[in-house]
Amino acid sequence: MSIAEKFVSMEYGPAPEDPKEAISWLERHHRRFELFIGGGWKASERGEYFDTFDPSNGEKLASVAQGSVADIDVAVKSARAASEKWRVLTPHARARHLYALARLVQKHSRLLAVLETMDNGKPIRESRDIDIPLVARHFYYHAGWAQILSQEFPDHEPCGVVGQIIPWNFPLLMLAWKIAPALATGNTVVLKPAEFTPLTALLFAELCQEAGLPGGVVNIVTGDGSTGEALVKHPEVDKIAFTGSTEVGRAIRGATAASRKRLSLELGGKSPFIIFEDADLDSAVEGLVDGIWFNQGQVCCAGSRLLMQESIAEALIAKIRDRMSNLRIGAPLDKAIDIGAIVAGVQLDRIQRLVEQGVAEGASCWQPAVTLPSRGFYFPPTLLSNVHPASIVAQQEIFGPVLAAMTFRTPREAVELANNTVYGLASCVWSENINVALHVAAQLKAGVVWVNCTNLFDAACGFGGYRESGYGREGGREGLLEYLQPKWLKQAPPLPIAKTDAVEELEHAPDASTPSIDHTVKLYIGGKQARPDSGYSFPVCAADGQLLGDAALGNRKDIRNAVEAARKAEGWGKTTAHNRAQVLYYCAENLSLRRSEIIQRLAAVVGEKQATKEVNLSLERIFSYAAWADKFDGAVHNPPFRNIAIAMHEPIGTVGVICPSDVPLLGFLSLVMPLLSVGNTVVAIPSEKYPLITGDLYQIFDTSDLPGGAINIVTGYVSQLLKTLAEHDDIDGIWVYGDDATVASTKAMSIGNLKQVWTNEGKAIDWFNPQVAEGRWFLEHATQVKNIWVPYGE
Ligand code: NAI
Repeated sequence: MSIAEKFVSMEYGPAPEDPKEAISWLERHHRRFELFIGGGWKASERGEYFDTFDPSNGEKLASVAQGSVADIDVAVKSARAASEKWRVLTPHARARHLYALARLVQKHSRLLAVLETMDNGKPIRESRDIDIPLVARHFYYHAGWAQILSQEFPDHEPCGVVGQIIPWNFPLLMLAWKIAPALATGNTVVLKPAEFTPLTALLFAELCQEAGLPGGVVNIVTGDGSTGEALVKHPEVDKIAFTGSTEVGRAIRGATAASRKRLSLELGGKSPFIIFEDADLDSAVEGLVDGIWFNQGQVCCAGSRLLMQESIAEALIAKIRDRMSNLRIGAPLDKAIDIGAIVAGVQLDRIQRLVEQGVAEGASCWQPAVTLPSRGFYFPPTLLSNVHPASIVAQQEIFGPVLAAMTFRTPREAVELANNTVYGLASCVWSENINVALHVAAQLKAGVVWVNCTNLFDAACGFGGYRESGYGREGGREGLLEYLQPKWLKQAPPLPIAKTDAVEELEHAPDASTPSIDHTVKLYIGGKQARPDSGYSFPVCAADGQLLGDAALGNRKDIRNAVEAARKAEGWGKTTAHNRAQVLYYCAENLSLRRSEIIQRLAAVVGEKQATKEVNLSLERIFSYAAWADKFDGAVHNPPFRNIAIAMHEPIGTVGVICPSDVPLLGFLSLVMPLLSVGNTVVAIPSEKYPLITGDLYQIFDTSDLPGGAINIVTGYVSQLLKTLAEHDDIDGIWVYGDDATVASTKAMSIGNLKQVWTNEGKAIDWFNPQVAEGRWFLEHATQVKNIWVPYGE
């Protein structure tokens, strides 16, 4: 074909990227890789290997060692041995190491991009222009944090040895998201890449050697799920960071429940892509191309659910089909390809199966007439319309180039549909009306909202989910907190084992012949005193055994009622911070009015000295959180695009709280007040030892303008109430102060909806010491960050 003819037809010629450097790198290693442990290559203990393939043609690329339990053990020990020196290195020295890694990533960027595309199947355009530059950016950004860490986090220390498990969709980028913050904060790492895509992690291991990183600071152990499992279960790992499927995330949560391992999870998504009738439709369609056809749709935050305003649906679908017909699908090393190969045959089958199921459930399927390459794993861009919101393709993550389209009429309906999912990772809003866009953004339950843009990422902007998309953030200041802990926590003494046999307590209660004292506190639900469903109460005794009164014996049903009331009161999170501050100050005022009577009552249980201290400090604690209410602000990030990213601190939602037993008033307020101050609603189980404090508390709350349902109190035995609270699917978070066994069982019982958990890790917290018992640590756990990206300029 002549140039003139090509000019008329506008057909693309081949534009292949040369893979020769990547091939010679593979050959240099004889296409066989060992494990990277202690700064060098180490054969796996069992001498087993698995193969990794190029999904664009099915050809084998290399054999890679299958790490075993014993290999993981060696790697963890190597990371532990390196830990002491690494954590005490000067901030500047650590910064220099991270900077060296950033520079080397840049220097070898083309090789990394080509290798990534060969191993994963993603278009070279994406690995070259998006993945690898972002990898370098993460190391630069975190080199900066390493430099200023001790000034910015003087009261924190690293977790220690971190186990990191990553998926195959962004192999090197996920490595960077995990390794860069871990190293910057002084941790050492054992990382397990995904079995489909281990190669760039192994090339990165070489860069660690080239950068002169001390041996053992980064260890890379390849293998399958069983290798990951061994890492999760290793007793000497202090923290696990995982990105992958929700199913495996749940399994990891279960496997770590009985340990003190910290855990952050970045899981699946079913992100809505909302287009309003006043949107710039052509831009929105381009956004959609990036939203769902980027990386073949194998993106946790893919805009896989298209929600279109009804009035524009027809015109929009026509535009989308038009654009889909122009997407080029083929060999990913071709520089003019839009859609490359699916990572593996099993993933291709899964996509096919889900699409067939969606069609069987009534969706109409449209695919452009494209010829797929004869070899390799390819799936055409696919549009499913007339999708019912309950259909499997509207609910389940497909992880392929498949868009499920639905319509809505009003902004309210759009929000309802958007939030109609168990996930909450990301979302897009397209509207030329900034007021509508931001109004909707604020209501979306998602860790990221892109307004008139899609799939933008930056190291400075935390990324992570709400709900079953996981918890913890990667990137930004908040991402560092995942790898740090307050210095005092490790040294804190263990909390003594709590007495758990409530029935036994009942048996030892004073018998019926004891003269009755007319002091029975009821439950406090929805702003009202409520009788317990059981119709029973339990006795509360003073330190000398004397009967002080009775407290309502709450049960499952009471917890459910309290959760319902708390849900209904979620407007509390939408009131202004100033308003919340005022209500809290008012609580302090009302506590102050009852000061001496509360001291007198509390003294019977904890002695006069503690009672006085508790009440005085309680006043201060409430003041502190009233102060924080309008000061625990978010941030505005300036990513290197024409965007601002507004990082909002949002409440978690409804949170269940198990309060300390031995410090009845101050302990209760130390946990409940931070949650209330940032807008959560709470269901609290007060001190088992002295639940009568509830009677004083509801008088305070009743007279302080706190909306009914913002705080609900169910008295009773923790051993009987915790399960319902932890398993309840309508509770978003649970805070538990208890011994090791209570903490472990809470973590295990709350796996169902993956609710966020804060615990004392079985340690005793000195509630009388404001340095440890109040402030940012609690507020950070009481909130989750939502980043709203807003573009500017023409
Ligand atoms: P996966 O969750 O099984 O794999 C992710 C990583 O976890 C891999 O490194 C794997 O070896 C490891 N792993 C597997 N089982 C483990 C265990 N019991 N303990 C510790 N580590 C374990 O994801 P998979 O099978 O590759 O993909 C299945 C589906 O998961 C996809 O179709 C997609 O829907 C979803 N997915 C979501 C990702 C995300 O970024 N949100 C990433 C990858 C997959």
